[in-house]
Amino acid sequence: MKVLITNIKELVQVRNKGENLVAGNAMKALPTIKNAYLLIDNDRIANYGIMNECSNITYDQIIDVSGKLVLPTWCDSHSHIVYAGNREQEFVDRINGLSYEEIANRGGGILNSAKMLELTDEDELFNQSIKRVKEVIKMGTGILEIKSGYGLSLESELKMLRVIKRIKTAVPIMIKATFLGAHALPFNFKNKRTAYIDHIINDMLPLIHRENLADFIDVFCEKDYFNLEDTARLLIAGKGYGLLPKIHVNQFNAFGGVALAVKHGALSVDHLEELNAEDINALKGSKTIPVALPSCSFFLGIPYTPARSLMDAGLPLALATDYNPGSTPSGNMNFVVSTACIKMKMTPEEAINAATINGAYAMGCAQDYGSISIGKKANLIITKNIPSYNYFPYAFGENHIEQVLINGRIFN
Ligand code: NIG
Ligand code: FE
Repeated sequence: MKVLITNIKELVQVRNKGENLVAGNAMKALPTIKNAYLLIDNDRIANYGIMNECSNITYDQIIDVSGKLVLPTWCDSHSHIVYAGNREQEFVDRINGLSYEEIANRGGGILNSAKMLELTDEDELFNQSIKRVKEVIKMGTGILEIKSGYGLSLESELKMLRVIKRIKTAVPIMIKATFLGAHALPFNFKNKRTAYIDHIINDMLPLIHRENLADFIDVFCEKDYFNLEDTARLLIAGKGYGLLPKIHVNQFNAFGGVALAVKHGALSVDHLEELNAEDINALKGSKTIPVALPSCSFFLGIPYTPARSLMDAGLPLALATDYNPGSTPSGNMNFVVSTACIKMKMTPEEAINAATINGAYAMGCAQDYGSISIGKKANLIITKNIPSYNYFPYAFGENHIEQVLINGRIFN
């Protein structure tokens, strides 16, 4: 089946040199073709170019998109979209003066979500989560990473990962699964952190491996959660089962977690709201990509990841949602892109690069996703009639997406 998209006002993020990420100054450039066509063959991009050159092309279906832009779908490399219930009460508590940390110290926060998840059966957890996944696809997300981490027991972590596996088969987008057993210390391991890490390594990881439930391993490397030594043990153990590290680090405190992650070959380091010169130096020359989560900063009122310092140091940067019930109850990548421009002073070109090709790199999937390139998956956003790609982040809070194509087919 060949689908020809014609009269594209601007085809955005066109790359044909096999790039799998863009870094530093190169992020300022967003290659486009004005007045373009794009040919899809089954689920992949088969060709593209200027309109004048498409007259001899044969096709089964034609879609005329006069006045509209076409972009690759967003690549959201960090989410906790599988969860039970919500934490709206904590939202109100924070408005009334409590901090995220204070709420967590009272047994709220991640442990609150773990309690709700334990009481929710697998089918119900799937039903609650798949609804959110479909919503984010409609908002333009075409590849999504999902973490466990609200289980914190063997049974509940497996329940979460099995739900993620079911989601993989229930939607047409690519889903990557991350095991985050070390998200918080569960109540029954209070003051027994080492024992909990032993439990993860000796009991959880082998089963997760046997059922092939995860692609990556994550740790919340943070004061009052897991320290450098814990993180190193978990990353080494995870790698033993073929799970590449992608870690939560420097959300509230910077104490060497970035260098540790780089040393262990992490694919990404995520959050980085607190970042110092040593962290930036550790990232230079590595294959580890920093990931910023601006809607988390927005929601919690914490600093934004210093995107300019990272890019000025020649580093790449990816943008993701962090969709979760506590710090970011939103999976809207359009909002992430706008917020990155408005609050982190990223240009629209930088933000779109960070939310597409660099997001794909942060999931190890840039060979198939993240740009308009021949042979990549035909996962596309068709916009409404808008003047330019700048308008996308500029007119924030408005839906600029008319249609989303996943594997060459309209998603609805
Ligand atoms: O990425 N920081 C750790 N984990 C999540 C929040 C988890 C929660 O509050 O439920 C995050 O922000
Ligand atoms: Fe997170």
